[in-house]
Amino acid sequence: MRRILVTGALGQIGSELVPLLRTRFGDECVVASDVRHPEAPATGPFERVDCMQVQDIERVVTRHSVGTVYHLAALLSVVAKQRPSAAWDLNMGGLYHVLEVARECGCAVFFPSSIGAFGPSTPAQGTPQETIQRPTTIYGITKVSGELLCDYYHRRFAVDTRGLRLPGLISYAAPPGGGTTDYAVEMFFHALNHGHYTCYLRPDTCLDMMYMPDALRAMVELMAADAAHLVHRNAYNLTAMHFTPERLAEEIRVHLPDFRVDYRVDPERQEIADSWPEWMDDSAAREEWGWRPDYDLAATTRDMLERLDARFRSA
Ligand code: SER
Repeated sequence: MRRILVTGALGQIGSELVPLLRTRFGDECVVASDVRHPEAPATGPFERVDCMQVQDIERVVTRHSVGTVYHLAALLSVVAKQRPSAAWDLNMGGLYHVLEVARECGCAVFFPSSIGAFGPSTPAQGTPQETIQRPTTIYGITKVSGELLCDYYHRRFAVDTRGLRLPGLISYAAPPGGGTTDYAVEMFFHALNHGHYTCYLRPDTCLDMMYMPDALRAMVELMAADAAHLVHRNAYNLTAMHFTPERLAEEIRVHLPDFRVDYRVDPERQEIADSWPEWMDDSAAREEWGWRPDYDLAATTRDMLERLDARFRSA
């Protein structure tokens, strides 16, 4: 079997996707890569790859006979707003390099798009699969452009590109790095550690969210799906639940009744959140490759609190 390469493997998604892929396909079949070096000992091959350097990607794809790339290296929305030029260079340049190598070497490519690919003129509720996409963030601009570039490489060069518009991801293994939806992860950590959280979004800000095990399964299932069924192959709306900070706090209080939240709104992050959908229609993913989430808000909250609690106790 040709191997799998994961870029950005030390980030929030990659640090859980790599172990999952290694369990399914074997340690040696999954090459983790990142611009940083790992702190923990590697359980399989690791390569330092800077996606801004096309030769880094080329070298690793050739050396390991890579057949599929999960291209996760990117800057998230808040960091991108602070460093727009770096965001353009990495989010667009990195993807372009990966697609070029995929074209030369015959690799399939997974691309993570986002709710950020939509903007204030998009219908915010029940956001259709195909609709207006005029994002006002540099992050969103790179995500729409990425979707289009993946479409182009598929149509023009027959590269097997596939992608998902991911919602905010909730996970306990590695922290998200500079996103607008990070509050949801932070709230769990603060609930257990401090019993209190100061939220940077307004209490009524509704956004799509998903628990990491569902997101990982969606990526793997999409890449395994029968290509003949994929009409919207590069940008499936994907969701499992949508909620506001107020609603998440209420659900956490089912388990930790004394948990308190107050609000100190950060106008920058609020502006980004306000430009994104409240909830997307993901029926294309359900119809074309059988997407079904396992975790709703109650199941996510229960599992997050149990796992984090176990981790903090053993620390
Ligand atoms: N979670 C991402 C962010 O907040 C959205 O894709 O930037």
